[in-house]
Amino acid sequence: METISSAAGALAEPHPALTVSAIGFTHRHGARDRDNDLCAALLAIAGHDLRQPLQVIMGAHDILAKTLNGSAEQIQLARLDGAASKLSDKLDQLIEALRLFEASSENGQEAVQLGPIFRISEAEFAEPARLKGITLRVIPTHAVVSSNPVLLHGILRNLIRNAIDYTPRGGGVLVAARRRGAAVHLEVRDSGVGVPAAELAHVFRPFYRVDTTRVDSFGLGLFIVKRAAAFLGHAVELYSAVGRGSRFVVVAETAPNPNRIGDLK
Ligand SMILES: Nc1ncnc2c1ncn2[C@@H]1O[C@H](COP(=O)(O)OP(=O)(O)OP(=O)(O)O)[C@@H](O)[C@H]1O
Ligand SMILES: [Mg+2]
Repeated sequence: METISSAAGALAEPHPALTVSAIGFTHRHGARDRDNDLCAALLAIAGHDLRQPLQVIMGAHDILAKTLNGSAEQIQLARLDGAASKLSDKLDQLIEALRLFEASSENGQEAVQLGPIFRISEAEFAEPARLKGITLRVIPTHAVVSSNPVLLHGILRNLIRNAIDYTPRGGGVLVAARRRGAAVHLEVRDSGVGVPAAELAHVFRPFYRVDTTRVDSFGLGLFIVKRAAAFLGHAVELYSAVGRGSRFVVVAETAPNPNRIGDLK
């Protein structure tokens, strides 16, 4: 069961400079629907059936690299190398998504420390942010929430990756956790291109991209975020202003008993 509230004003935004439009999803714990099952099946097929031929291509490439001498052939081989690397990266993302779905069916909720997840995410994205000339700031936190460490890390990873992807050089990305009563708001904020109001509800759909000319994206990251959050019973909110930036908020409950603390393996 999913509730969608949309349009400016439906979700009070404490930072008026960024508020042009907003959308939020709330889910009952354990909610699932047909597209979740379909996507999990598609991901399983892709992860399994595409990995093998890619390995054959990579193997043939390595052999050719040792034998080809002409510069024209070398240029073609470099193109093949670039394409195969891109395909391999995307496949890794698909497999990562599949692992998240598997994790969600195995693991229940537990008390999860956000601090280690923030630290790992910061280390993971420091280099991609630096290479793109983006300032990544991750505010340390001691918050402990009721969640699942694997899924929550997957959610955060997809949101930070997007924030870096959709923010031009010179921009900034901020990751922070804020206590709000019994809840903790995990925020990923960027100063990037923003999402047009008419696209807000669509960007969480599988394979949906605002800019369809991009060759390096699948349109799966936010779908994964939405489904993982649905499983965990976390609400997801998106506030965005075109040309100014976006703020994604994941709302988790503070853990009632932080004695049993789950961590990333
Ligand atoms: N932080 C953001 N700022 C602006 N637009 C965004 C942001 N995050 C997502 N979007 C828009 O939403 C679309 C869907 O995002 P999503 O993460 O699902 O897919 P993707 O980034 O295109 O591909 P991938 O599967 O590699 O994540 C993006 O193509 C982009 O147009
Ligand atoms: Mg993405």
